[in-house]
Amino acid sequence: MAKKLFIKTYGCQMNVYDSARMADLLGAIGYAPSEEPDGADLVILNTCHIREKAAEKVYSELGRLRRAKDEKARGGGRMLVAVAGCVAQAEGDEMLRRAPLVDMVVGPQAYHRLPEMIARIERGAGRALETDFPPEDKFDALPQESAAQAGPSAFLTVQEGCDKFCTFCVVPYTRGAEFARPVAQVMAEARRLVAAGARELTLLGQNVNAYRGLDEAGETVTLAGLIRRLSDIPGLARLRYTTSHPRDMSADLIAAHRDVATLMPYLHLPVQAGSDRVLAAMNRQHTGDDYRRLIERIRDARPDIALSGDFIVGFPGETDKDFEATLALVREVNYAQAFSFKYSRRPGTPAAAVPGQVPEPEKKARLAALQDLLRAQQEAFNRATLGRALDVLIEREGRHPGQKIGRTPYLQPVHVRAPDAAIGDILRLRIEGVEPNSLKGALEGAAPVPA
Ligand code: 5AD
Ligand code: SF4
Repeated sequence: MAKKLFIKTYGCQMNVYDSARMADLLGAIGYAPSEEPDGADLVILNTCHIREKAAEKVYSELGRLRRAKDEKARGGGRMLVAVAGCVAQAEGDEMLRRAPLVDMVVGPQAYHRLPEMIARIERGAGRALETDFPPEDKFDALPQESAAQAGPSAFLTVQEGCDKFCTFCVVPYTRGAEFARPVAQVMAEARRLVAAGARELTLLGQNVNAYRGLDEAGETVTLAGLIRRLSDIPGLARLRYTTSHPRDMSADLIAAHRDVATLMPYLHLPVQAGSDRVLAAMNRQHTGDDYRRLIERIRDARPDIALSGDFIVGFPGETDKDFEATLALVREVNYAQAFSFKYSRRPGTPAAAVPGQVPEPEKKARLAALQDLLRAQQEAFNRATLGRALDVLIEREGRHPGQKIGRTPYLQPVHVRAPDAAIGDILRLRIEGVEPNSLKGALEGAAPVPA
């Protein structure tokens, strides 16, 4: 009988991708996915360390798992508990010390070693820790992704790690140095995902636009080059990528937004702050005006592009005037969507040690002001699609009979009554209504748009 595997995923899309790959890997040695931890033979917490008491949340989740683990033991079984992801990387053996119920701690670059670790534990070799950045390529060691995972919109990790060292961020430490998967490996995975039903691929990387992969001829291919090659795959209707750094937004990538029809008009391009002083202290390596000029060039190439960003308020030393500069930049750029956060001290990062931490009430007030502005911009962007006909990729069933949920090219979720439509269809819909977090569409004529 198959063993039961429960994976709980925190954080970013890269973790979602990694969890799927861990499920593939463990599927090959007899573990089948389960919806809940109770009775599981293996529980994996795939953790995120980017903000707020990340480690504490993991420890309390582990506390809750104790009951399920004890229950399993009473029935004569054994539940193995693994902590994976960025908290695992950051905490390392501290995690084994603090949480006796944890059997395995495995970092994001080492999870292909899970089967070996499990085997060692089953041989009675004690608890296992793998937080090195192993020399072998994780992607070579993983089995092919299973077709079952691929919905109409699939993730594909093409790049990992970050060499930028923004002073607030743990990623360069938890995910390690920049690494790009070879072009052939990416192309092969993309073809398999499309053969399994994916119509849209989102290329993932912590710093995805820094992608520099080698092709079979040993030539370096940029993200734009990779996108151009991927756009030749028959049946692949949509391409997206995330997350990008302004410094790596090269001319060829901007041109791809003009030339490549399958590259969707949506760009997540975090700026974090508007004040040059704060940007310098963050080590972002660009100014507010650099970012403005970049946005102008991107909009020249693709006037309708939907822009998205990340913002941090209350970075150490941020004054009211600095924060005003963030608001001013947001007003000028005009975002379709955005994510904003209060600065959170991450142990081990340079910004955690500097004086001038901003008091919590100030951070809170700034976040509220920024989010009001961003929300208004998002609503305006959504309202502007009213009455337009947009192509919507149907991704799943809705809650009501005959209802389907999909996304526009601008990544807005759309609800539509379309009983005859299939998951994976791209329908031309008339946008009829705007809800706070989604749009309402109606079928335009009856016939699905051919692929
Ligand atoms: N505090 C607050 N937000 C952070 N982010 C990264 N590190 C921190 C931190 N220490 C945010 C950035 C980044 C997003 C993924 O998370 O805005 O772009
Ligand atoms: Fe972190 Fe992104 Fe800066 Fe890299 S570029 S250090 S991942 S915020």
